[in-house]
Amino acid sequence: MQTAEHEVTAAPHPLEPLSGDEIEAAAAILREERHLEESAQFVFVTLMEPPKDRVWAYSAGTALERQAFVVLHERALCAVYEAVVSLDTREVLSWQEIRGVQPPLTRDETIAYEEVVRDDPRWQEAMRRRGVTDLDGAKLDPWPVGYDGPEDAPERGRFLRPLTWVSTGEDGDNAYARPVEGLIVRFDLDRMEVVEVEDHGIVPLAPRSGNYTAEGIRASENFPSFSDGVRTDLRPIEITQPAGTSFEVSRHEVRWQRWRLRVGFTPREGLVLHDVAYEDRGEVRPVLYRASLSEMFIPYGDPSPTHYRKNVFDMGEAGIGMLANSLELGCDCLGEIHYFDAWVNDNQGRAVRIPNAICMHEEDNGVLWKHTDYRSGRGEVRRSRRLVLSIFTTVGNYDYGFFWYFYQDGSIEYEVKLTGVMTNGSVPAGERPRYGTLVAPGVYGPNHQHIFCVRLDMAVDGPNNSVVECDSVPVEPGPDNPHGNAWEVVRTPLRRESEAQRLANPNLARFWRIENPARQNAVGDPVAYRLEPGPSTPPPQRSDTHAIRRAQFATRNLWVTAYQPDELFAAGPYPYQHPGGAGLPEWVRADRPIENGDVVVWHTFVAHHVVRSEDWPVMPVATAGFKLRPDGFFDGNPSLDVPEPVSHSCDHQAPGTNGGRRGANETGPSLHRDGS
Ligand code: CO
Repeated sequence: MQTAEHEVTAAPHPLEPLSGDEIEAAAAILREERHLEESAQFVFVTLMEPPKDRVWAYSAGTALERQAFVVLHERALCAVYEAVVSLDTREVLSWQEIRGVQPPLTRDETIAYEEVVRDDPRWQEAMRRRGVTDLDGAKLDPWPVGYDGPEDAPERGRFLRPLTWVSTGEDGDNAYARPVEGLIVRFDLDRMEVVEVEDHGIVPLAPRSGNYTAEGIRASENFPSFSDGVRTDLRPIEITQPAGTSFEVSRHEVRWQRWRLRVGFTPREGLVLHDVAYEDRGEVRPVLYRASLSEMFIPYGDPSPTHYRKNVFDMGEAGIGMLANSLELGCDCLGEIHYFDAWVNDNQGRAVRIPNAICMHEEDNGVLWKHTDYRSGRGEVRRSRRLVLSIFTTVGNYDYGFFWYFYQDGSIEYEVKLTGVMTNGSVPAGERPRYGTLVAPGVYGPNHQHIFCVRLDMAVDGPNNSVVECDSVPVEPGPDNPHGNAWEVVRTPLRRESEAQRLANPNLARFWRIENPARQNAVGDPVAYRLEPGPSTPPPQRSDTHAIRRAQFATRNLWVTAYQPDELFAAGPYPYQHPGGAGLPEWVRADRPIENGDVVVWHTFVAHHVVRSEDWPVMPVATAGFKLRPDGFFDGNPSLDVPEPVSHSCDHQAPGTNGGRRGANETGPSLHRDGS
């Protein structure tokens, strides 16, 4: 662990993430003023963002008060507190006990519980029944208990449901290859003791190693085995930018091409973007005030005892930023990289630096636009460049990458990359799982989904926006459609929160326009960005299950709410053991009007995971995400001014045309430059 770097700097922008010094100062102020005991655990220490109107009005040099928002778990009192601390006046501005909730799992808890389980004779006996004598090889993962009935209610205590795997103990061994089926521990995190060990019967441990290191894949008993080791026919590839990158960075402010944005980071959300704007011929035009993942939910569709209670909220139950990796140049990121470090808190309120947590770089993205005149052979082509901002996190067995892309045509894309080792189960030899896919002898991957909800605090040319649903609909045959070919785009304005809980509909090519009714483009339409939804398979579970009641955000692909600064998390601020109904379903009961107002758009998209054998033993990256594309925001293609590639004349000639017959040697320099 590294402690805070003490850097002396001018007043930070109001949306600069907390520095290490600020995290430690917030903890110290709180500890002193509230006389905190050693049993007080700092869960999250985060920037308390100033009110939006103050940030809109902010101009460099007029400092706004720096404040920290702190979630505290007083373990001895089984109590959760929220505090706001002024870092300027060094006082506690607010202090509130939050009753009837459980905070996310803390790192200290996830370390401390494991030894207690290992020492428990019931767990040891269950392992011996399975022929495991070397208990040091057993690995426990801290699965949140979820909510499966009143015994799991937050008021009843704080619980964990660890699951067990067995490793050979050799270096690099993949413990996840040998899940211990049917052995479920219920653990009391308040008392730090095992409540119960359920044993649903012995399923033999899977026989093969499932190792995936360069050495490990040689093992002949592996599945599949690569006895020759790694392939040797891959030659080096190098990404170089000899004149440097095209972006400018000042602290957490980024300028790239026409894009302007601020990079943020919180221990709960990970990467956060603020103040995303596009500079359009001298005018800085806002698009997004704030964008971040708001929750993710991974429910399993397997009714067996080990798997049906796997229903996890990796963000609200743990913290995506807390779990962020340090990225390595040449491995995680290739080329000319700008890294941002991230600062998070530990449970004692000390600052922890995650070096290289955020990777930023440019990528060539193929053709941006192109046309060849088939008569003359004259061609115009431009290459697309995109700016990539990303983090990677490890949540137990799974690894998630969260990627934002910015394009020269004004588009924004969000993509989650799913990789790592899928959670799994064991089946007896000769049996095939009904609710999953056999991936190796004795190992299967249960059916499941990864459901993501991204919160988009939209600001298309200013804070007041409207959202309109657009469907492509066939026109009834008749005088308006005499030939039967007609279809039109039907626009449905979403006027209130009750009207703005929508499903995606690929059959109608449904998208949503986030419009600014106060500004029109050159042809008289309101300027807008279009939300093109991502994959949208709704949860196949019954909607009255505990799992789906807890994750109602997952049942709709679009929600629109009236802006409230503390409405940030789709399943509510404290999903751990929460019985359900918090977050979006609670807020929209007010049915606030959302037309031409400060609106927040929530998009739920899904990585639907019917497991393949190729996902084993480590999963090639699968992706899910969505796009925000300008839709009448610009007067025409905003990327016309992207220059031709510097080192090429791009004299494209279409085959079978006059141009094709001429040949490059006869025509000399590129034709299309002659007239310029
Ligand atoms: Co999966």
